[in-house]
Amino acid sequence: MRPKIAVIRGDGVGPEVVGATLAILERVIDAEFIEVRAGKGYFMETGSPMEEGGMDRLRESDALLKGPIATPTRGRSYPSVNLRIRREFDLYANVRPFRSYEGISIRRMDLVMVRENVEGLYAGREEMRGEEAVTERVITRRGARRIAEFAFNLAEARGRSRVTAIHKKNVLKVSDGLFLDEFYRVAEGHPGVTADDYIVDAAAYRLVKVDHPFDVMLLPNLYGDILSDVAAGVVGSLGLCGSAQIGEDYGAFEPIHGTAEDIAGRGVANPIGTVMAASMMLEWLDLKFPGLGQVGRRMAEAVDGVVMARKLTPDLGGDATTGEVAEAILELMD
Ligand code: NAI
Repeated sequence: MRPKIAVIRGDGVGPEVVGATLAILERVIDAEFIEVRAGKGYFMETGSPMEEGGMDRLRESDALLKGPIATPTRGRSYPSVNLRIRREFDLYANVRPFRSYEGISIRRMDLVMVRENVEGLYAGREEMRGEEAVTERVITRRGARRIAEFAFNLAEARGRSRVTAIHKKNVLKVSDGLFLDEFYRVAEGHPGVTADDYIVDAAAYRLVKVDHPFDVMLLPNLYGDILSDVAAGVVGSLGLCGSAQIGEDYGAFEPIHGTAEDIAGRGVANPIGTVMAASMMLEWLDLKFPGLGQVGRRMAEAVDGVVMARKLTPDLGGDATTGEVAEAILELMD
């Protein structure tokens, strides 16, 4: 049996970084790739943000590899495809590892952010009430508990010793209060892992200011969105970082960056974030398709080798193209 991997190439640099990653995947695993068209480009062509039956095709697949998708903030717009996929598959855990590279990153760092991915300010509950714009920030007990459980389980599985909850309980006493209460309740069931907490603004400062600032971070949705870009800046580039969005029985894997319109179409986007996302996808698929995890780990090691050899795209001061970096990764894997 071989895995069915759905692929959304996305917008902007998406087709370039996903194309480069597929060129590697096609060489190192035996899988069926199922293209699903979605995003701004598709919307401009057809008036619909995702091809008909697209969700069904995702449902028939074992996992999704996707590029970034633009959500216009002005002009003709449509509901976010990203949010739709997260909600449809209840992808409640967004896992984002950040590891520094010597001589490239401004601080030493080896941490994993676990971001709650379907609640908080992204729950989609907002409206105009007369002259007031109101967005509800929803944190449920169930949502807070399951993401905390996920973070502690991840820490234990990866031999990590500390989970730090990030919050603003001093101001948001009710919603962040519940998030933090559930965090400490769940922590009691994981006595081998240290649990502590940090206020979000102080956490942002610490990320930039000190080496090894955190081990595993557990964050409500918006804080995770913002602090992951801070961490990517410390590591060296948004283009280096990948993510996994995990639900009970489906996973979607993508780079953490957006469509990078400023460099799209020039063949210079860094493909490593998408390659790292693919590596995480293979590790996750290993449960169902034993052996893929090992390939995923080899892929991550090859990325390390390529960065150490300074085969870098312009975001890291190099002059390699997207395709050259992907080729170098493949060569090291071979
Ligand atoms: P962005 O991540 O696209 O760009 C920020 C900066 O990082 C730019 O200077 C860009 O050139 C650079 N950058 C990003 N990826 C890079 C790569 N692979 N290689 C080299 N440099 C890279 O952030 P921005 O401009 O805020 O977002 C643009 C669009 O992307 C928006 O429509 C947003 O909604 C969407 N977006 C989609 C995401 C997704 O589909 N998961 C995630 C984040 C943003």
